Amino acid sequence: MELPFAESYKIKMVETIKKSTREEREQWIKEAKYNLFNLKSEQVFIDLLTDSGTGAMSDKQWSAMMLGDESYAGASSYYKLKDKIKELLGFEYFLPTHQGRAAENVLFSALIKEGDIVPGNSHFDTTKGHIEFRKAKAIDCTIDEAFDTEIDHPFKGNVDLQKLEKTIQKYTPERIPLIVLTVTCNSSGGQPVSIENMKAIRKVADKYNIPVYYDSARFAENAYFIKIREKGYENKTIKEIVKEMFSYADGMTMSSKKDAIVNMGGFIGLKSQDVFKKATVFNIIFEGYITYGGMSGRDMNALAQGLDEGTEFDYLETRINQVAYLGQRLTGFGVPVQKPYGGHAIFVDAKKFLPNLPKEEFLAQTLAVELYLEAGIRGVEIGALLADRDPETRENRYPALELLRLAIPRRVYTNNHMDVIAVALKNVFDRRDQIKKGLKIIDEAPIMRHFTVELDRV
Ligand code: F0G
Repeated sequence: MELPFAESYKIKMVETIKKSTREEREQWIKEAKYNLFNLKSEQVFIDLLTDSGTGAMSDKQWSAMMLGDESYAGASSYYKLKDKIKELLGFEYFLPTHQGRAAENVLFSALIKEGDIVPGNSHFDTTKGHIEFRKAKAIDCTIDEAFDTEIDHPFKGNVDLQKLEKTIQKYTPERIPLIVLTVTCNSSGGQPVSIENMKAIRKVADKYNIPVYYDSARFAENAYFIKIREKGYENKTIKEIVKEMFSYADGMTMSSKKDAIVNMGGFIGLKSQDVFKKATVFNIIFEGYITYGGMSGRDMNALAQGLDEGTEFDYLETRINQVAYLGQRLTGFGVPVQKPYGGHAIFVDAKKFLPNLPKEEFLAQTLAVELYLEAGIRGVEIGALLADRDPETRENRYPALELLRLAIPRRVYTNNHMDVIAVALKNVFDRRDQIKKGLKIIDEAPIMRHFTVELDRV
């Protein structure tokens, strides 16, 4: 008999989590104005709000923290991280930042100006926010297959090369300071980009002399999918694939809170000394001096170790298998989810789940609230709330997909938790006909409204 699958680690420290009653949750979600960001963490039993900064560090990461060098300038922790980035990712220059959006802020300050165009594959919301904040425009060139949750395409994060080239020709290369490729693509469901596509994007970019930067938060999960799904890569190690991926990029921004399995941190990796010099000025203003830029020495040590562990096959197999396990259980119950299953999360198709609710009533948010009420599980809306208003017309933007994202923290929950999540969502699915009304906005911020929006039942 073939041995069943088991995690590639054992547990050394635990944290208690508490269940609650439905009455308590009714009260709490009302007080939170139907915005799950406003809940206190102790009001949540299983927290799938994000996989960002919520992972469990390893014994080796914790021990590396004790060796942190907190010198203001020239800390050994900085050099340790610099060497690890060079070794694993191939970038000569690097700037530490406190998290991913800070890396975007610093890099885009150096590269983007008003009126610019930034093509890419479904830019993440902070990326888009930093582009639009500079009065530039993000253009989504993702392949059409990504917007149908039922199509089983192996690389739904891919860029449609025709869309990309048309965008470049329409706006002219002079207006395009960079192309941003998000690996894996969070907004289209944690979907990977193939090496073939990365190579092709590089070719188009070279033709028009435009640099390519990777938004790399989940680069290792992307490499895992390449190994599993792309011909010719089955015998390569994750680290070899990662190296090849970044060989097609001019630079990268990183939210280390994802695939580097730390609770806080980010960085920029660069090949160009010129861009490094420009970005350094902004890093010093916004983040901190070059050799710490928003991070403490101990955190840089944990990050260097996390990069190494996060690019090991056994760890990634455990991780991606757990996400797929949840996906399979939900599919078994008939719950409509994005296929293939994403790397860091399962995305529930709220339009298919609640087909009778109008889009103006925020379907995915309504579903998120229902799942919380059912079992104290906190997911997050990736739909019209997140899509925000058009910066020019101020009209609501309604994206092609209304998704409820169930992001799985790294090395945190067991498959028993996955079972609870699956059954809770099945229970909501079974009573979906009784969900007749959605939510309406009471108050919202001018940009990135989903974090602070206040809602009420329609
Ligand atoms: N890029 C991607 C693809 C992301 O998913 C995120 C964050 C960022 C950039 C920004 O990084 O949070 O460190 O500033 N995503 C989190 C999420 C918040 O829940 O998906 P950050």
